[in-house]
Amino acid sequence: MNRYIRKLQTEHEHGIVQLGFLDDATQRMNQKGFSEEDFKIVKKSSAFISNEIRQHNESEEINLFPLLENHLSQNGPTQVMRAEHRILWNKLNKFDKSIADVESDKNNLEFLKNLRSNAQRIVDLLSEHIYKENNILFPMAEKILTENELKLLAEIG
Ligand SMILES: [Fe+2]
Ligand SMILES: [Fe+2]
Repeated sequence: MNRYIRKLQTEHEHGIVQLGFLDDATQRMNQKGFSEEDFKIVKKSSAFISNEIRQHNESEEINLFPLLENHLSQNGPTQVMRAEHRILWNKLNKFDKSIADVESDKNNLEFLKNLRSNAQRIVDLLSEHIYKENNILFPMAEKILTENELKLLAEIG
């Protein structure tokens, strides 16, 4: 496998681990009430998505998608992936607001419920997004990109 694409896949694996933590922690607090330990996990996962995942997505948009777009129509799968990146940022903004709400009133059950549902939307969207890239977009890239394009990518990774 191409070095750069493998790097993206490894980053996906780290993302999936964080999503699992986020899913579990928000579910526990929704069921059992606020806990400092779980809240710490939630804030850490949110920071991971804002930093590592954002950088990862930007790298895809700068390095990989334009090369794929040399071969695909403008309304192809890369446009769908770009749109999903934008949807993720919107959801993350809402999620960060619900983190701030919980911070302001830790025992408010409504706030914990919102935190859970906003987290769940991110977990669902991002895991599906990652699944599509791993199973559709990346194999497609290795098939349709030229030797030269793959070499360019490998030099980045
Ligand atoms: Fe992506
Ligand atoms: Fe990705």
